[in-house]
Amino acid sequence: MTQRLWAAEKAKALAQAGRARILAIESSCDETAAAVVEDGRRVLSGAVASQIDMHALYGGVVPEIASRMHVEALCPVVEQAMAQAGMTLDQLDAVGVTYGPGLVGALLTGVSYGKALAWALDKPLIGVNHIEGHVSANYLAHPDLTPPFCCLVASGGHSHIVKVERYGHYTLLGQTTDDAAGEAFDKVARVLDIPYPGGPLLDKLAEEGDEHYYKFPRIHTPGKYDFSFSGLKTHVVNAAHNLRQQGQQIRAADFAASFRRAVVDALVDKAVLAALDSAVDTLALAGGVASNRLLRRELARRGEQAGLRVLMPPPRLCTDNAEMIGSAAFYRLMAGQVADLSLNAQPSCRLVEAQS
Ligand code: KG4
Ligand code: ZN
Repeated sequence: MTQRLWAAEKAKALAQAGRARILAIESSCDETAAAVVEDGRRVLSGAVASQIDMHALYGGVVPEIASRMHVEALCPVVEQAMAQAGMTLDQLDAVGVTYGPGLVGALLTGVSYGKALAWALDKPLIGVNHIEGHVSANYLAHPDLTPPFCCLVASGGHSHIVKVERYGHYTLLGQTTDDAAGEAFDKVARVLDIPYPGGPLLDKLAEEGDEHYYKFPRIHTPGKYDFSFSGLKTHVVNAAHNLRQQGQQIRAADFAASFRRAVVDALVDKAVLAALDSAVDTLALAGGVASNRLLRRELARRGEQAGLRVLMPPPRLCTDNAEMIGSAAFYRLMAGQVADLSLNAQPSCRLVEAQS
């Protein structure tokens, strides 16, 4: 109890000073990451242990293996981040950790580690929503970015358009009604025999292809800013099977390019429309799919044509990392939102709870 009170007092003092160096931990899926971030904007260090090679053997993330590998990697990754920052643990002001959404076992490793460390150091603990982390990667890449702005978040498990009203306050404008964009990329990659992780490799292959060669449908959704990728994915997977049954060779690069164009058109159309209707001047991009080359080019081109300022983090900060968690944790800390030792993993938590 005393420990909790001290940590809360420290959090209050940090919020009043408006400064904090936060150690952030991310373990929601298949990357174990740690970073030290100063005042939500300056990256002092960042370390990642990727599990991709192991999961590639199975064609996707195996949750139990992910949890075990996080347990092994957490200590060395944190030590690496601290060494890179040239700091000792007692020089930290707070500890931030992703509590969801993600794989429950994977999340629990980071949450348990973060809680133990915050308790041992008697520092404030901040629970961070992973999707908020993705949005916050933009604060690291663009020091002058402040809310309000709109953000298209496209990752392996989520596809949302949100309006960031102020730090930590979001209005959900649109979302996928079924599959996330990254999920669709990964499924179609599998049909093309592209190894896990499919999305980035499909994107690379698509750069060489003719996006007009195959005609794939554009799916319409009732919600003005919503998307749907399940129908497109099924259509594309069936098309591949039919071509094979007819003994025709699939032109993989053209197939990848035509599919990528259909996904990107849907995302960009809705995101630009939502931003214009929200009367903001800035549209940001975030999430693993934000590393997609065509999505980056098209959102910049179409958004700027529409008079918007279009911002996106570099690809390294789009896929899962701890730097983005450190940025989001800072604004939660400034709002006095610190967790206690009852913090738990929430595998299905949402970014905009009020509307759920
Ligand atoms: O944000 P993220 O790293 O993890 C989640 O929070 O889900 O996103 C991973 C997703 C995967 O589906 C991956 O295939 C996709 O992002 N992805 C891409 C690209 N890079 C990663 N999809 C399309 N093109 C890419 N370049
Ligand atoms: Zn992610």
